[in-house]
Amino acid sequence: MSQKNIESHLVEKRVFKPSKDFSKKARIGSLAEYKTLWEESIKKPDKFWAREAAELVWQQKWTKVLEWKEPFAKWFVGGKLNVSENCLDRHLGTPRQNKAAILWEGEPGEKRALTYQQLHREVCKFANVLKSHHVKKGERVIIYMPMVPEASIAMLACARIGATHSVVFGGFSAEAIRDRIADSQATVVITADGGYRRGSVVGLKKNVDDALKGGDPSVPRVRSVIVFQRTGQPVQMEPNRDHWWHEEMAKADGNCPAIPLDSEHPLFILYTSGSTGQPKGILHTTGGYLMGAYITCKYVFDMRDEDVYWCTADIGWVTGHSYMVYGPLANGATTLMYEGAPNWPENDRFWKIIEDYRVTIFYTAPTAIRSFIRWGDQWVKKHDLSSLRLLGSVGEPINPEAWMWYHHTIGGGRCPIVDTWWQTETGAIMITPLPGATPTRPGSATLPFFGVDAAIVDEAGNEVGPNVSGKLVIRKPWPSMLRNIHGDRARYRKTYWSEVKGCYFAGDGARRDKDGNFWIVGRIDDVLNVAGHRIGTSELEGALVSHPVVAEAAVVGRPDELKGQAVVCFVTLKQDVTATDQLRDDLKKHVRHVIGPVATPDEIRFADALPKTRSGKIMRRLLKQVACGAVVTGDTTTLEDLSILAKLAGKED
Ligand code: WTA
Repeated sequence: MSQKNIESHLVEKRVFKPSKDFSKKARIGSLAEYKTLWEESIKKPDKFWAREAAELVWQQKWTKVLEWKEPFAKWFVGGKLNVSENCLDRHLGTPRQNKAAILWEGEPGEKRALTYQQLHREVCKFANVLKSHHVKKGERVIIYMPMVPEASIAMLACARIGATHSVVFGGFSAEAIRDRIADSQATVVITADGGYRRGSVVGLKKNVDDALKGGDPSVPRVRSVIVFQRTGQPVQMEPNRDHWWHEEMAKADGNCPAIPLDSEHPLFILYTSGSTGQPKGILHTTGGYLMGAYITCKYVFDMRDEDVYWCTADIGWVTGHSYMVYGPLANGATTLMYEGAPNWPENDRFWKIIEDYRVTIFYTAPTAIRSFIRWGDQWVKKHDLSSLRLLGSVGEPINPEAWMWYHHTIGGGRCPIVDTWWQTETGAIMITPLPGATPTRPGSATLPFFGVDAAIVDEAGNEVGPNVSGKLVIRKPWPSMLRNIHGDRARYRKTYWSEVKGCYFAGDGARRDKDGNFWIVGRIDDVLNVAGHRIGTSELEGALVSHPVVAEAAVVGRPDELKGQAVVCFVTLKQDVTATDQLRDDLKKHVRHVIGPVATPDEIRFADALPKTRSGKIMRRLLKQVACGAVVTGDTTTLEDLSILAKLAGKED
């Protein structure tokens, strides 16, 4: 986040109260009501969560709401349920059964609608396909798909039989798939021949083939690859291993009861970046996660049967999991899914979709909003957006200017904006306005959600006063919290529960104003947020040094008007290697290849050496200043080689 944004945050005084009309219809209609319920959720969590959990379908009721042995939580202990049953079966036999569960539009323009009954049948059939490939309860399944309903079907089918899915974002590389297969020890992969993005075909199956090329003993043998035919482009099908989705489905039975699963049964693993090492497999379980996804959709989006709800996130991110699939379906809502880019074939695609489907709730990211602003209001004005009643934002701090534009130009000044702070690890929204209750302030995620005991603390772990920045922590366990980093309890404890005693440390910096509103400043660890995507600097550095000519690399973020942060790499080369523009391009391509297009460096700067402390730590603070073009300030006496600073300060071109 840029200095300008932080400054504008500090002077931001505008307050927008929910309209009387909105509050009258909303589930939580006043700040007082929110406060009463929040107090209850913190002081009497058992009572609060037992009441909310009773709205889910349990095959066996829990005996205890929470068992907490820091840092390990069990929620709804002894309870048995199935997420797929909660998202599908519970709506059958009700007036919802023939309403659209998923509305889908492909980038080339195809349209599909799946009612709850139809989706249920597809999920049952695909669950039987998985069974016919001997997928067992607890086994891991990788899903690497474009944005098609089959991606949701695959997730729900895994949930139905107790397989643990791990969705890999379609923009990640073959190497990223291989790493995730190795870490999760998955034995089945579900993919597609390709998908459409900005008018071209992205070859997903080819990446899976590359990922599965043998040789690496840490990668288990994948016995089945199931391939959905989306684009029809030619792909290689390996005999005995690869199978077409449609052929398998044609053989499958439409009945498949949802099996009862322990509340703590692993539902999914989703990999995300941290400040050190390889991406971490964030583990979410069944009962608590579903509770979080369900209750936040109910109160934050105030979802109703009449709503057409659209979350623009990709299914490969946690937002796609909680707010495109599980949360909306558990609420019996209609969830819209769009395959492609917002500027295809033209810059008004999103507004056209909102008009065509009469979308009522729209949830997107600040980086997208900033692009829309740049493209210009004329694209918005061509369309009737009067169906919208509520707007959401997620992924990074929203700058007040973007908030105001969203409010006026998209929301017509009438739609509340819920700026929702949360993380892959938290599973569900944590800090957010409730649209009928909370006065909103541009740039603030406002107040903690029910059950969330958030605070700002200083270096010593003490809570700070109003308007003092510090570390954002959560002081109590919550139902949808991560349970572990897959296979690494020590890393889980160290990463999240050791920085601040007795608290979950989020990795974000924030402050609270005198009314208690949270203003998130952004990551304070070595994690970048590039266009709403989390990327660890250590992963980028690892990718750079895996290139044969690179000796050392340090990566920092530079504020970027559009993407939030841009990736700036400082690289030293091995002896006798000459720095050239060609090499710069090669290195960018190399990082793309190793991690994926989302991680493409914006700038590569060559240096003779990197600035280090006497103990050998790279001085990132200094590099950040250099990357921003700022004058280097502060204490630099511990530098190993001061002379290199001048060279580093030279711009890329
Ligand atoms: C950032 C995405 C400010 C934050 C759901 C967090 C936000 C990281 C907001 C998690 C917001 C997300 N305001 N910052 N409303 N939402 N963030 O795991 O830095 O991909 O730690 O989860 O995004 O990113 P993740």
